[in-house]
Amino acid sequence: MAGTHFGFESVDERDKARRVRGVFDSVAPRYDLMNDLMSMGLHRAWKSYAVLVSGVREGQQVLDIAGGTGDLTRAFARKVGKSGRVVHTDINEAMLRTGRDRLLDAGVSLPTMVCDAEKLPFPDNHFDVVTVAFGLRNMTHKDIALKEMNRVLKPRGKLLVLEFSKVAKPLAKAYDWYSFNVLPRLGKLVAGDDASYRYLAESIRMHPSQEELKTLMKEGGFGHVDYHNMTGGIAALHVGIKC
Ligand SMILES: C[S@@+](CC[C@H](N)C(=O)[O-])C[C@H]1O[C@@H](n2cnc3c(N)ncnc32)[C@H](O)[C@@H]1O
Repeated sequence: MAGTHFGFESVDERDKARRVRGVFDSVAPRYDLMNDLMSMGLHRAWKSYAVLVSGVREGQQVLDIAGGTGDLTRAFARKVGKSGRVVHTDINEAMLRTGRDRLLDAGVSLPTMVCDAEKLPFPDNHFDVVTVAFGLRNMTHKDIALKEMNRVLKPRGKLLVLEFSKVAKPLAKAYDWYSFNVLPRLGKLVAGDDASYRYLAESIRMHPSQEELKTLMKEGGFGHVDYHNMTGGIAALHVGIKC
């Protein structure tokens, strides 16, 4: 039996997806509110920056992986217009359903599909842009997921990975205090769930650093990889080109 981690806990690989599903089933109804509160709205700026860096154009095909409640999906749908297409996907039905309702409320109608990033049900060389925001951290086999993302991208296509990362040293102490004291309490108060927000803090610490993720993306087939630190490395945007 192969092992992996769920936050700081060591678990059987086969158990991780179930545990992650439990987290997002629990937080889905309050996910957006918690995102705004936890990041003090910063996640919106990080996502806008990702859309800007994507260079996405009207008429293009975009795949949003781990799209959850659909923030990036909606922003990309505006950019590609009626002649393009954004596919909104996630492994978790509760997150997708919340996202689909939000998209429909905003007048955006597009394909929504349950799918596992490690087994993408799309042909090779299909999308101009693939995005995954705050999702890669939760995947059991990040290497397999990255190879899948590479496979479904057209040659010269772009992968955008937006994820929590390693913070700059001067911020580390305050960030740790905030993560392990404030986040779980806020989770308990707003979403009635402190454990899921403790998992969030722990999973961020277990996620590869900026340089490690860059290497992983290169091993996944991306010929060129670059990253942009945001807010002192609290988040980082990795951009991979299939070449
Ligand atoms: C923190 S949410 C991010 C949602 C959205 N992208 C955002 O930025 O607000 C992480 C999402 O990753 C999804 N996820 C976890 N493992 C996955 C997998 N193997 N394949 C696809 N989605 C996955 C979860 O279901 C969850 O909706």
